[in-house]
Amino acid sequence: DTSRGSSRPSAHPIVIGHRGASGYRPEHTLESYRLAIRMGADYIEPDLVSTKDGVLVARHENEISGTTDVAAHPEFAARKTTKTIDGTPVTGWFTEDLTLAELKTLRAKERLPQVRPTNTTFDGKFEVPTFQEVLDLARTEGRRLDRTIGVYPETKHPSYFQSIGLALEEPLVRVLKQNRLTGRKDKVFIQSFETANLRKLDRMTDNKLIQLLDASGRPYDLVVANDPRTYQDLAKPENLKWIHTYADGIGVNKNLIVPRDAAGKLLAPTSVIRDAHRDGLLVHAWTFRAENQFLPLDFRLGADPNARGDITSEYELFYGLGLDG
Ligand code: G3P
Ligand code: CA
Repeated sequence: DTSRGSSRPSAHPIVIGHRGASGYRPEHTLESYRLAIRMGADYIEPDLVSTKDGVLVARHENEISGTTDVAAHPEFAARKTTKTIDGTPVTGWFTEDLTLAELKTLRAKERLPQVRPTNTTFDGKFEVPTFQEVLDLARTEGRRLDRTIGVYPETKHPSYFQSIGLALEEPLVRVLKQNRLTGRKDKVFIQSFETANLRKLDRMTDNKLIQLLDASGRPYDLVVANDPRTYQDLAKPENLKWIHTYADGIGVNKNLIVPRDAAGKLLAPTSVIRDAHRDGLLVHAWTFRAENQFLPLDFRLGADPNARGDITSEYELFYGLGLDG
């Protein structure tokens, strides 16, 4: 039962500004997304978490001491706490403990100052944007450039948020609906590492859905739940068929497509792309980064197609602009 039908891969690689142009501006800020669009990204990629009052905001993690100046705000000192998120103890300040108004008093900072020292010049300047603000930016920039800017939201820790009464799916679909962006043809993909979250979204919206798989082919909620499928490789053909019952494609760690040996040498591509395409699933790979693999991989797969087979055209997208991490 493939209720979602088959999707055709696009003829050209699609460029997704992973967390915006996160090599050049602090990630998940309007300034980072705007620069990604102006650099030519087809899509921007907001990771989404919830505030205390149920507003979706763009952060990779709900713990925000690494990406904001929250620790320097004495009024929030007492909110520092330790929680277990998806089985891992995490200490710090959490978006779900701050209202949107409180979160808006914070300023973003570079998450990886050692990797991207120049980005630290923007520390303290930019706000944490809401998902609505990200959509507004995409629309405004799209009008300016006369093209449609795609949006590729990712729900972060959805089971956890559901468990504390702040489910992400309802506000996500509500905001997309308010923006008339819930059609299959809209330039929107919703991605998640959690199968339960995507299966819920499948029942709620027509948006295209992407099941994220880590380097071993695993969605995180199955890992956390000790589901027996954790110990299988979900990129195997029989499992791809199951994924296709609720999703339109897989978003795979690039190492699942082109593995490396212990010394880091690229090995022959796996059959994941071919298997997924045979089942009508899209394949979106992440994350290609300038400082490590993007260029060699691009050249190897694109410049010498006969050596290993031309799979360049089978990548629906390349992620990453600049020093991404
Ligand atoms: O889309 C997949 C990719 O975004 C997962 O990586 O950066 O959210 O941890 P990340
Ligand atoms: Ca992401």
